[in-house]
Amino acid sequence: MTPTDHPPATAGHRAAVRKAVIPAAGMGTRFLPATKSMPKEMLPIVDKPVLQFVIEEAVASGIDDILIVTGRAKRAVENHFDFNPELEAFLASVGKPELIDQIRDIGNRARIHYIRQKLQLGLGDAIRLGRDHVGDQPFAVLLGDTIIEPPEGQKPGLRQLLDVFEERRASAVAVHRVPREWVGRYGIVDGAPVAANPNVLRLRRLVEKPPVADAPSNLAIAGRYVFTPEIFGCIDATGQGVGGEIQLTDAMDLLARQQPMYALSWQARRYDIGNRVEYAKCFVDFALRRPETAKALREHLLQALAGS
Ligand code: G1P
Repeated sequence: MTPTDHPPATAGHRAAVRKAVIPAAGMGTRFLPATKSMPKEMLPIVDKPVLQFVIEEAVASGIDDILIVTGRAKRAVENHFDFNPELEAFLASVGKPELIDQIRDIGNRARIHYIRQKLQLGLGDAIRLGRDHVGDQPFAVLLGDTIIEPPEGQKPGLRQLLDVFEERRASAVAVHRVPREWVGRYGIVDGAPVAANPNVLRLRRLVEKPPVADAPSNLAIAGRYVFTPEIFGCIDATGQGVGGEIQLTDAMDLLARQQPMYALSWQARRYDIGNRVEYAKCFVDFALRRPETAKALREHLLQALAGS
């Protein structure tokens, strides 16, 4: 196929994207003991779990149906996005009605479904569990441990990627530039900018966690994807990759050889909650933006830093 070819016009390319799959089944070993009975996706940023930020991004981007791929710590996720009549009754009894609306709203924003990944076989395997749910339709993937903050005034992260899908009718992945020495932590893409937009690349190759010497670029996969349903066949054809896991990036590399696929290189800030320092930065950044916590935290940080 040449770079000017158009994708095949199947239903999976023409349809609007209504569904998202959110993998949230990882062990979260870097956050033990906090993650012994709770997935890392439920870690709070001030007072809201990471996964709620991710779901709010999906909903703000026009997605109304979400499949969460959970692991053993599934119950904490399900309970969070369910109603809690006992808690509501308690809040009513102590005169905090505003909190009732807030906790009820969490479960009302989208239709949320769950599937459990029984074995930790990798991200590709987790996404494959969405096959029956999404069927022959395009769908989005949002990593449940990644918060994306677009620059002021820009659309939500996933919405920007959906715009690329709708324009090109082909799978698309968000990427961001990382320091060259970090390429071994990410999926790395190789592509060429399209004529109409220097931030959109037609992809040639994708490689998961390459050694620095082999990395085709420093453009790292940023945890947001939109796929045509042909990705499932590519996952089936993908064997174990880095870490002995079925890597989504390897399946995407196959897909890019079968049909056009694009990357959107964006300026959004990405917080990888799987990383302790990034988690701490995310917590501090968000607390500094919240009116009720900003002033006291700023004063504390200035004092703490002056003393360090
Ligand atoms: C996963 C993906 C990788 C991507 C990264 C983004 O890796 O496999 O391609 O760049 O998420 O966070 P993980 O962080 O699970 O090792």
